[in-house]
Amino acid sequence: MLVSAMLLGGCKDEPRSIVPGGEVEQGLRLVTQYQCGACHTIPGVQGAAGSDGPALDTIGRLSYIAGGIPNRPDNMVRWLRVPHAVKPGTEMPPMGLTEQEARHMAAFLYTLR
Ligand code: HEC
Repeated sequence: MLVSAMLLGGCKDEPRSIVPGGEVEQGLRLVTQYQCGACHTIPGVQGAAGSDGPALDTIGRLSYIAGGIPNRPDNMVRWLRVPHAVKPGTEMPPMGLTEQEARHMAAFLYTLR
């Protein structure tokens, strides 16, 4: 996947996947700490092999979050904080994240492509 991104030529930092204020390393740490892997399979996160939610291995290049929400940084941050506000009735629980924590997590998630 890295190879194809490089072949496509220098668009590695597509605007739609840049999260202002989000740091990938912090995101990885937080995703591990909050145990998102209890429900999701997440590459690079130790023990993250859950299957209640979708695998997040290509979340960085999906067009939609949760089947219908345009996959943009602002939507992703909101989804992570208050999933039910974005998609009423969703089974993804709110995890009590701060805005900043969600930004870090989103930055990490967008590396998964
Ligand atoms: C109790 C289980 C559970 C936990 C814990 C959980 N999720 Fe989810 N997650 C889900 C479910 C179920 C869905 C599918 C929701 C839907 O489509 O309505 C989902 C959807 C998602 C999606 C969208 C995936 C897609 O393919 O559209 C992302 C991104 C996501 N979760 C990230 C996280 C992160 C990051 C955490 C940790 C902060 C987390 N989740 C914690 C159950 C969980």
